[in-house]
Amino acid sequence: MRVVIQENYDNMSKWTANYIAAKIKAHKEDRPFVLGLPTGSSPIGVYNELVRMYKAGEISFKNVVTFNMDEYVGLPKEHDQSYWYFMHYYFFDHVDVPKENINILNGLAEDLEAECANYEAKIASYGGIDLFLGGIGVDGHIAFNEPGTSLASRTGLRKLTRDTRIVNSRFFDNDPEKVPAYALCTGVATVMDAKEVIIEISGHNKARAMAHVVEGAVSQMWTCSCLQMHENAIIACDESACDELKVGTYKYYLDIEKDERL
Ligand code: GLP
Repeated sequence: MRVVIQENYDNMSKWTANYIAAKIKAHKEDRPFVLGLPTGSSPIGVYNELVRMYKAGEISFKNVVTFNMDEYVGLPKEHDQSYWYFMHYYFFDHVDVPKENINILNGLAEDLEAECANYEAKIASYGGIDLFLGGIGVDGHIAFNEPGTSLASRTGLRKLTRDTRIVNSRFFDNDPEKVPAYALCTGVATVMDAKEVIIEISGHNKARAMAHVVEGAVSQMWTCSCLQMHENAIIACDESACDELKVGTYKYYLDIEKDERL
């Protein structure tokens, strides 16, 4: 697993956006580039930079198909806290991804199980995900795969932990009860199936999770640690996220990735 440490959030975001853009441009296969996408504050800087690149004529998303990581159950897509709304607000409304290429789980589907099975089938129909961008929760969750979720899990219904509802209550009038209790999300194995995975980790509040993910054992209690088993996984992070790493680990990655430092 690579760990690319940048000085701050902006540089982390720029580095990641450049990396994604380069991959999209280099994609010459006779099928679209399939991009997995997250929500949350961690990827906003990446979306801002990709939008800037698009507006500057540096990149097009016409040949890109997207699959989002997760969506709350019970929120209509027009709700300003739905992940559908978030994605359009920060990204899709500003770039040229064809509308029919955008895939987001429907948390209001009548048959949630079928919705998730169809999502997996649709990903497979495109030949899988080329690059999955993600973030992590303070408890190390990837998508909404909370501690204890099987590392072999597929797209499905998840119950959110009390901790996650408290953390996400900042978007729901600071009331954890207003945060939906359930979400649909891609499984750990769904993310692991992607040819490449990049996870954004920023800020001191993620430092404990970062240490578990990078230095800890592979464990269902820190689901993002699964990335240690992925052939092409990158953690893109800022300095504050490294606060709990061993000095030796931090120095090692700074040195081995020094050419990537912006
Ligand atoms: C939510 C999302 C995750 C995201 C996490 C961290 O729980 N389901 O996909 O990684 O929040 O969000 P943030 O980047 O805002 O810290």
